[in-house]
Amino acid sequence: MCGIFGITTNQNKPVGKIALEAIKRLEYRGYDSCGIVTQYESQLLVKKDAGKIEEINQRIKLDDFPNGSRLALAHTRWATHGPPTKINSHPHLDCDDKIAVIHNGILENFIELKEEMLSKGHVFKSETDTEIIPHLIEENLKKNVDLKDAVVNAVKKCKGAYGLAICHADYPDTIIAVRRESPLIVGIEEGKTTYCASDIPAFLPYTRNCYILEDDEIAILKAGTVEFYDVYNSNFPKKKDLHHVEWSMDAAEKGGYEHFMLKEIYEEPDALRRTLKVTNDSLKDFAKSLLSAENIYITAAGTSFYAALAGKFIITKFLGKYIQAIECSEFKTELINSLEKDSVIIAISQSGETIDLIEAIRWAKDYQASVKILSITNIVGSSITRHSDKILITQAGPEIGVAATKTFVTQVLIQSLVALEIAKLRKIESQNEIQKYYDALHSIPEVIERFLTKSVDLIKYIVRNLEKNLNFFFLARGISIATAKEGGLKLKEVACRFIEGYSAAHAKHGPISLVREGYPIIFIAPPDETYERLVGNLMEFKSRGGKIISLVVEDDKKIGDLSDITIRIPQPGDKYHSLFSPITFVPALQLLAYYAALEHNLDPDKPLNLAKTVTVH
Ligand code: AGP
Repeated sequence: MCGIFGITTNQNKPVGKIALEAIKRLEYRGYDSCGIVTQYESQLLVKKDAGKIEEINQRIKLDDFPNGSRLALAHTRWATHGPPTKINSHPHLDCDDKIAVIHNGILENFIELKEEMLSKGHVFKSETDTEIIPHLIEENLKKNVDLKDAVVNAVKKCKGAYGLAICHADYPDTIIAVRRESPLIVGIEEGKTTYCASDIPAFLPYTRNCYILEDDEIAILKAGTVEFYDVYNSNFPKKKDLHHVEWSMDAAEKGGYEHFMLKEIYEEPDALRRTLKVTNDSLKDFAKSLLSAENIYITAAGTSFYAALAGKFIITKFLGKYIQAIECSEFKTELINSLEKDSVIIAISQSGETIDLIEAIRWAKDYQASVKILSITNIVGSSITRHSDKILITQAGPEIGVAATKTFVTQVLIQSLVALEIAKLRKIESQNEIQKYYDALHSIPEVIERFLTKSVDLIKYIVRNLEKNLNFFFLARGISIATAKEGGLKLKEVACRFIEGYSAAHAKHGPISLVREGYPIIFIAPPDETYERLVGNLMEFKSRGGKIISLVVEDDKKIGDLSDITIRIPQPGDKYHSLFSPITFVPALQLLAYYAALEHNLDPDKPLNLAKTVTVH
């Protein structure tokens, strides 16, 4: 959950400054402390401290290193072992300050390894698991092996997850990068500069050419070159495919918006347009696997799980088979006695790195080798794709804000496209009818554009209106429960308010007792088959003094008229559009959460205690 970056160059580049800018672009991965190390005249120069990058930079000028320095490593931390303090921030060094290591992940056996190193006289300064690595390498170098073998032998002793970048004071242009379960990408400007990073945006201003490191691969980076080896067969270099990234730098930078979250909400229409172009063949492949499956599960975490809840609803409508949705952290516990061999699992993750999800699908494959994994992710080459039989890539582009926004809408859209492929294959609807669903999907980018253009003031007004209320509900029925839950998650995450998305029917069985005169309740009410029942639920809350805010379609009459405040989504009130309402309704709730965060003086891009990618259990 940390961000790591490395650069080695033969050009006259300000490596400290480049490293600083790179970790700023990775700050969404963790932001409680950071550090940079450069190599200069056979010495390692380190600057690090606790706090956000910009604050630290103001204090200690993080990028101020000697001109002749040609190599740097940089790290932005999300604390796991040891609180966010200067001493615990990365890089970590060996006893002689010759070896520097930055790490993303968790080493599970570090206590045993630390005891072993302590018994050999090594001195530790921090409480981190990471610090074991420089000491292991230092110990191995005493045996006269070269730096690569010293790293290989060190990581072979480690259990757990790591993306590591390592440099040595006596190797002026060498960075060693190695990974297991934590992402690591190598970027290259041939003959000039080589980079490594936990995410592509870190080096995107300089190169779009990159290699994606797989588990147990090690890369030796020198200025403008890179060699790859397997950790478990490290004598011979191996060939890897070079990837060309299509993302633009614009997409990874704020481009005039105050926050990434806001920019990424406004990017939703284009993200959806790109995702609408995903090829029919890959969608059809997905659809066929679902048609032939005996048992189907859908699993994910957080926002991706709510996208899964919406997607399951849409797919089931045309598939005619039940899909069981299980949070990935509970997947094994729930299915350990019942996962059948002909099961198909849809796994959804924007990052493709969420450890609980990777573990769930790995377990499923180990338990029943014939199980098929169909994954949906935003990141080509991410861990999830290595464990999948079929892959669909959402075309959201880089999402930097910790809060998932455009990835949610594209995840629901891509599942909707799979659903319509199923409808075509099963021939349960006429061509004409299916076309109307497609037309509805294709109109969504414009619906969101129109909403974002005309409704911001209303959302700000509602935020000011809700300001005093520390808690309230989003209530909904049917597919909109997914919308309500995602709205609740966004508010918890960025506005630090415990706001729940709940079933409107179920709310009568307890939560209704919270309602007093003026207590706000937001009803999510697209005109689908649940609408009339929802009107009944609304009345129950209204008659107890609840202040009703509703989210409805443009030409809604009944619920709109019954509400104190109404947010209208400019879409037709027909069944074709209503089926996909999570895609058009959720942006309103994302915007609500965004402005609620601002109202409470919170930074929506850096919610407290969170990181974008959760790679620890
Ligand atoms: C969403 O706003 C959150 N940051 C979080 O719930 C996230 O959706 C979850 O951690 C899953 O991430 P993934 O999609 O990368 O697997």
